[in-house]
Amino acid sequence: MAQQPSFKTVFVFLDTDKYCSPFDMLVAIDAFPDSMIFKYENVTGEDAAKIVFDALFPRGPMGAQHTKIFINGSNFDMVSEVVAATQKCMASAPWGNSIIVDPRGAYSTAAGAVAKTLGLSLEKGFGTLEGKNVTVLAGTGPVGQTAARIYASEKANVVITSRTMAKGQAVADKINKEVGAERVKVVEVTKPEQTSAAVKDAEIILAAGAGGIQLLSAADLKSAAKCKIVADINAIKPLGVEGLGSNDDGVALSSGAFGIGALAIGKLKIKIETEMIKRATAAPQGLFDYSIAYEIGKAAILKKLAKAKA
Ligand SMILES: NC(=O)c1ccc[n+]([C@@H]2O[C@H](COP(=O)([O-])OP(=O)(O)OC[C@H]3O[C@@H](n4cnc5c(N)ncnc54)[C@H](OP(=O)(O)O)[C@@H]3O)[C@@H](O)[C@H]2O)c1
Repeated sequence: MAQQPSFKTVFVFLDTDKYCSPFDMLVAIDAFPDSMIFKYENVTGEDAAKIVFDALFPRGPMGAQHTKIFINGSNFDMVSEVVAATQKCMASAPWGNSIIVDPRGAYSTAAGAVAKTLGLSLEKGFGTLEGKNVTVLAGTGPVGQTAARIYASEKANVVITSRTMAKGQAVADKINKEVGAERVKVVEVTKPEQTSAAVKDAEIILAAGAGGIQLLSAADLKSAAKCKIVADINAIKPLGVEGLGSNDDGVALSSGAFGIGALAIGKLKIKIETEMIKRATAAPQGLFDYSIAYEIGKAAILKKLAKAKA
């Protein structure tokens, strides 16, 4: 009997940036220590088509299933172009494989942040995200806009802030179009004094700003009288929310809200990214993006809550 060929798992990293991030390559290697990585940088949609066809054909349909594409980069538009080109290749080729997309960790981080706030809300008896008022501070970056998109998909009323109204509005318009409802609004914050207006009705606040930027003072958090949960994804000092520590995980803050810090979110983020890679590796094909990331994060949180109750 002819012996079946055994195929090594290979991850083909397509990065739109100058340097391919070691972060995600390390997560992939830790999930599959015997795998190999081929990395390509400064990748455009045109390059992606050539690379993906060259990755699909040599190992045949069986081998292609062990050859996974990981698309990365800090510019969402460029990443989307590479994703679209890759999906087009898969659709026109006689066989395909699965695609993991996690632009500079934005999808798994945002999924982790939203899932953690949902979990804390359920744990404290505040209910699901549906109908909740959520403010995503600096909601225009890759992590912030993905979190806003996930909150909107959970039917929350979302406010995002930006220092530039037009930039914020472009993000809000895109998400509202995707979810088919006007769920995301923008508040321009050019000076710290304007932050209180953006959080006055918020029941959940997520600070999603660039590293080392404080977005919410303790006084502004205290003025947000309806706020029950506050989370921060910035682990670089100064942190995003004054009085909320990186390792805080559901702690009661002096404002009365419960807080979740960046490193607590980071632990779930790594679990989500690892599971995305494992699922993509087990599946013959498919797109593994922010919606799968959130599905994984939410399921992990709900499982943990159920276990705590049992
Ligand atoms: N915890 C984790 O596991 C984890 C994982 C990945 C990333 N992160 C962190 O997540 C955060 C967001 O990442 P990202 O890539 O989405 O961030 P980013 O694109 O660098 O910044 C997010 C937003 O911050 C605002 N911003 C930038 N500089 C500012 C300033 N000086 N003052 C006020 N606002 C400012 C900008 O919004 P406007 O221009 O619209 O005002 C920008 O769109 C970072 O802190 C990153 O380190 C955490």
